[in-house]
Amino acid sequence: MDSLLVKGGAPLHGEVTISGAKNSVLPIMAATLLTAEPCTIRRVPELSDVKFMGQILTSLGAEVKFEDNTLSVHAGKIKGVGDYDLIRKMRGSICILGPLLGRLRKAKVSLPGGCVIGSRPIDLHLKGLQALGAKISINGGYVVATAPRLVGNDLFLGGRSGPTVLGTGNVMMAAVLAEGVTIIESAACEPEVVDLAGFLNTMGAKISGAGSPTITIAGVSELHGADYEVIPDRIEAATFAIAAAATDGEVTLLGSRPDHLHAVLDKLREAGVKVERRGPALTVRRGGRLKPVDVTTLPYAGFPTDAQAQMMVLMALTSGISIITERIFEARFMHVSELARLGADIAIEGPSAIIRGGKPLSGAPVMASDLRASAALVIAGLIAKGTTLVKRIYHLDRGYENIDAKLRRLGARIERAAES
Ligand code: EPZ
Repeated sequence: MDSLLVKGGAPLHGEVTISGAKNSVLPIMAATLLTAEPCTIRRVPELSDVKFMGQILTSLGAEVKFEDNTLSVHAGKIKGVGDYDLIRKMRGSICILGPLLGRLRKAKVSLPGGCVIGSRPIDLHLKGLQALGAKISINGGYVVATAPRLVGNDLFLGGRSGPTVLGTGNVMMAAVLAEGVTIIESAACEPEVVDLAGFLNTMGAKISGAGSPTITIAGVSELHGADYEVIPDRIEAATFAIAAAATDGEVTLLGSRPDHLHAVLDKLREAGVKVERRGPALTVRRGGRLKPVDVTTLPYAGFPTDAQAQMMVLMALTSGISIITERIFEARFMHVSELARLGADIAIEGPSAIIRGGKPLSGAPVMASDLRASAALVIAGLIAKGTTLVKRIYHLDRGYENIDAKLRRLGARIERAAES
């Protein structure tokens, strides 16, 4: 397992190009199962999660090729049973359930593993698919679904923590080939849901309202192949923006979508960070003394839970008390104990972390636990005095394309080391 060796003290300067969005690509890859015609997906980041989803599609019978950030998928003939071990290893793979039901009217996929940020239930996915006529049972760790007919319906998809991103995707991908019209109320509004709807419409689907809490899908009889470019990754952009401010540098993000980042940029400005927009380019620098801010994670367009850990590092640097409240996942503070090893003073009170910021951080060996916590630990290492060894960075490689190379190009002193 690889580690990253990070030497603190080098401010980040320069330009970084934001890669395609992991959380768009995964459901869009699943959506290629809905047609027997070849599909091309562009601006695909080279990530282990993308490779993994490719293996899952291959195990279902699809031909998958990846070259130069372009993915070609041809799901000419596919079967409805996924590889148990492959599927259970990646939570995002649950989004093959909807398209398999849509295309084959049957599916057997393993229940997704939980992960360190919480239990990750799929009750809303199943509720939505059952509302379309699917018969669903759970046995032997598998979700077994059949739907002799899929019929459009009006359904409410809100849960105890608000909407579900992949649940909205799964229901959309079954509804596109259902008879009649489906209306999803309390749909997720994330840009990645809008991107998936855009891809499906390019395939001939009739979806409107994506990006709003009410999505309408008029079922069609079949879908055709598509050639589509995914949106840039707003969480990667947020991660680099926060790293620029944390290291007291100046970084220009190229190829991002500033309109997907309003909540993050608003919080950064409130904390005293200078953010200038020049067309699609965003230039971020600290610009003076940082101010403590309170953050609550919310469904889009609120502050994204996937940028919570990274923001916590910035607040650990900022003199004063900041409170970060996590409203989306019940256990997304794994990074707190690791940041404490670097000297951060953070107390957890229920869903909130109270950060007594301004204490100097000093390097130490730390353990990555999940994708975004790993990014937070790398940012902390960039500012801590001395050297920080971030272990188990396979978490990081799941969701950030060449992050160490990108950071080195910005002046970071960071090396990848194969762990002995
Ligand atoms: C997507 O996960 C993202 N992953 C997550 O990003 C992101 O954190 C999350 O959306 C929220 O924005 C992908 O898109 C691959 P949810 P998803 O269903 O769809 C509860 C990252 O770091 N819930 O929107 O699985 C759930 O427990 C990852 O890139 C139910 O109760 O998340 C959570 O509390 C991490 N029942 C809340 O809803 C359900 O059936 C939001 O989950 C489904 C979800």
